[in-house]
Amino acid sequence: MARTIAVSGSASGIGEALAGMLRDAGDTVIGIDLRDADVRADLSVPEGRASAVAQTLERCGGRLDAVVACAGVSDFTVMPVKVNFFGAVELLDGLRPALAAAGAPRAAVVGSISGTHPVDDDVVRACLAGDEPAALAAAEKAERSGAGGLLYPSSKAALAQWMRRVCVTPGWAGAGIPLNAIAPGVVRTPMTAPLFADEAMVQVMNEAVPMPLNGHAGPEVIAEALRWLISPANTHMTGQVVYVDGGAEATLRGA
Ligand code: NAI
Repeated sequence: MARTIAVSGSASGIGEALAGMLRDAGDTVIGIDLRDADVRADLSVPEGRASAVAQTLERCGGRLDAVVACAGVSDFTVMPVKVNFFGAVELLDGLRPALAAAGAPRAAVVGSISGTHPVDDDVVRACLAGDEPAALAAAEKAERSGAGGLLYPSSKAALAQWMRRVCVTPGWAGAGIPLNAIAPGVVRTPMTAPLFADEAMVQVMNEAVPMPLNGHAGPEVIAEALRWLISPANTHMTGQVVYVDGGAEATLRGA
């Protein structure tokens, strides 16, 4: 049966691959992105997130079968905290009532293997407290002190922890909504294109994210995994961070 599914980050990479697959299967996709999308909105700021929620609710008529929060940025500034954490959380929170109105609702976020890397504890703590000003103040401090590299991992670690906390609450599990994360390793998308263009960076990347099983993935690999998580077949998996990473997490964390 055709479903209506909101996908953020639908204009590029993993989100674009997922949106294409869903549309090919006959689903109605509401793409959310800065550009080239059904809903154009900036998820880095509260008013942009509110606009994304309002526009999506209007398009779906208050009933959504699934939401995938895929939009993200990777740099050494405060942006990952704004987009990857607060952008995803506020989008999901805002669309949750529309999910609860559907017969077999599903939700997923896109985490990262980076969520297992070292983080800035103050940033993660403030994110989990839902305190964006405090999270951004801590992130700016990290950026100024040359620790901006911790901010992307912090945003993804916080997102995974938020997901695990809320997934079992009345608003999610109690409303019949599985909520999970796919955590990719390194994926060939426009996000990583500049890294692949630099031999030295590829070396650094391969050391930080070793992928013994089939190497770097294409975006369709991650999209396929997301597709199952949000399918009606997933009736009982919730709160899981599923690493689709060519063995990186198993290599790094072992037994
Ligand atoms: P991408 O750069 O190809 O696509 C990201 C999309 O998010 C773009 O269309 C962009 O416009 C959108 N976006 C960025 N900021 C936004 C904002 N403020 N408001 C609305 N939309 C915004 O990147 P990719 O690789 O497809 O990444 C998708 C997700 O996967 C991200 O959350 C990323 O952190 C995650 N990821 C990617 C990995 C990789 O190796 N490419 C590895 C692990 C996680």
